[in-house]
Amino acid sequence: MPNNILIVPTLSEHLPEIAEIEKMCFSSPASLEFLTNEVQNDSAYYLTALCENKVVGYIGVNIIVDEAYIDNIAVLTNYRRKGIAATLMNITIQKCRDNDVSFLTLEVRKSNFPAISLYQKYGFQTVGKRRNYYSSPTEDALIMTIFFNTGESHE
Ligand code: COA
Repeated sequence: MPNNILIVPTLSEHLPEIAEIEKMCFSSPASLEFLTNEVQNDSAYYLTALCENKVVGYIGVNIIVDEAYIDNIAVLTNYRRKGIAATLMNITIQKCRDNDVSFLTLEVRKSNFPAISLYQKYGFQTVGKRRNYYSSPTEDALIMTIFFNTGESHE
């Protein structure tokens, strides 16, 4: 990742730019209001990628007891293929391991090759499908999950 990119915990001042990136990337974007409520949740773990104070990417995760769900991850078009999503994913996976999370899961459009490739690179497996989960256009979601060895003994 270029060394002018900084990864920081998401602050409320980042949210208007994150909402704009949502609009650019998704047919059902998360609104500023939704994001504002979401980051205040105790279970929320959001990271922002900054380039000279401009928001260029983010990841949003919810960690509930030992289960983690990726709400979203996106990087501005001009900043893609530079390792920003990979860095966001690395930090998130480490956070899950540090918190003894059992699995990290997400839904992705089945045609979203860049995102699926990213998840596969990090060891996510396709564990299921939600039929017609997305609209505009209607499309199935793949459920992709990475399971962590929490080191628990069941003896
Ligand atoms: N084609 C194939 N593989 C891709 C890819 C592409 N266009 N973009 C990313 N990848 C995979 C590769 O395995 C890559 O590793 P490599 O560079 O060693 O080949 C790995 O992801 C990491 O790439 P990185 O540069 O960190 O990703 P990125 O910063 O460009 O962000 C997305 C990837 C998916 C977040 C970005 O394309 C995006 O914002 N897409 C729109 C939003 C979106 O669809 N989010 C997912 C919602 S479920």
